[in-house]
Amino acid sequence: MILVTGGTGYIGSHTVVQLIEAGHDVVIIDNLSNSKLDVLDKIQEITGVRPLFYHIDLLNMDDVERVFNQNEIKAVIHFAGFKAVGESVQIPMAYYQNNITGTLNLCMIMDKYKCKNIVFSSSATVYGLNNISPLTEDLPLSATNPYGQTKLMIENILKDIYVSDDEWSISLLRYFNPIGAHHSSLLGENPRGIPNNLVPYIAQVAEGSLEKLKVFGDDYDTIDGTGVRDYIHVEDLARGHILALNYVFKHKGVEAINLGTGNGSSVLEVIKAYEKECGKAIPYEIVARRAGDVDICFANPQKAKDLLKWEATKTLDEMCRDSWNFMVTTRKS
Ligand code: NAD
Ligand code: UFG
Repeated sequence: MILVTGGTGYIGSHTVVQLIEAGHDVVIIDNLSNSKLDVLDKIQEITGVRPLFYHIDLLNMDDVERVFNQNEIKAVIHFAGFKAVGESVQIPMAYYQNNITGTLNLCMIMDKYKCKNIVFSSSATVYGLNNISPLTEDLPLSATNPYGQTKLMIENILKDIYVSDDEWSISLLRYFNPIGAHHSSLLGENPRGIPNNLVPYIAQVAEGSLEKLKVFGDDYDTIDGTGVRDYIHVEDLARGHILALNYVFKHKGVEAINLGTGNGSSVLEVIKAYEKECGKAIPYEIVARRAGDVDICFANPQKAKDLLKWEATKTLDEMCRDSWNFMVTTRKS
């Protein structure tokens, strides 16, 4: 049995689908703070299997223990956490409590039940502001906001756990910019309120619920002056987790691994790709830079290729197409 925390969330749900398709039994823990129960119906519709679900909070250790008591968990893929950078600046204590305490509770119960295999959702945010892309895993790490701090701290906690007990097998997956949706259009990202991230924002402009995109700066040292990021299809990202899971089953230790395509796209390139896929113009205006943004951020994905035999395969056009199809399907239902 594989435990997926945050398994009804955006990346978690796509990963659960692929775990089931790969023949794994899956149990999900989620407190539904940022996802909905009907995701389970969609997973069932895609795979024919309804994963076991516990509506519990990682902050409640007794509840977490109950899951381990009732199931033979061989490994954990740990997605559960808060993830909005801006919000983390407003309510840092909630972020530290949820992300750090939630992870510590999980690891303590894992240890108690001798389940020592974990794949953790880290982020390219741990590379901070001063490294030059393409980013490799051995670069110095730093964080510029409480959300990023939690990722960095959890990486360090997991490294310390391995130092204390070399029976652990830990994969720290550093995601770049996940976008897109399941090719069935049944799963995708549906943020509450006004989206903070580029592609969910563009999707809502295309659909008509937002008037126009604000492009944060056109004076960066990039191809067209707008920020460059490594956008990765969420299904490619999910597949990385299946391979990371196979890896942790075979290798003890701690490995940080980038999951990105190795290619950067500018904001204007993303707008253009999205316009092509949705068949509409995306109105936008250039505004001031957003505080804390770097000009260019993309991965060197070689380590994932070497260790996991993983490579991203989907193009920016496919990511935009799947995002748009999901938006259309969601608005209809
Ligand atoms: P998401 O918000 O869609 O999924 C996270 C899930 O965890 C949600 O379903 C939420 O309800 C659940 N959750 C949160 N706190 C919980 C708790 N205490 N107990 C139980 N469940 C809890 O986010 P996502 O985009 O799928 O991201 C998954 C992970 O990947 C997060 O840890 C995030 O920080 C990390 N990550 C995401 C991105 C991105 O751009 N989406 C980039 C880098 C890293
Ligand atoms: N952007 C705009 N307008 C918007 C939103 C974004 O111009 O309304 C620009 C940004 O300035 C940036 C690019 O679009 O150049 C991408 O911005 P996102 O907010 O979509 O993504 P970020 O790269 O800033 O951050 C994301 C996650 C972080 C994570 C990081 C690395 O939000 O949590 O990727 O994984 F840490």
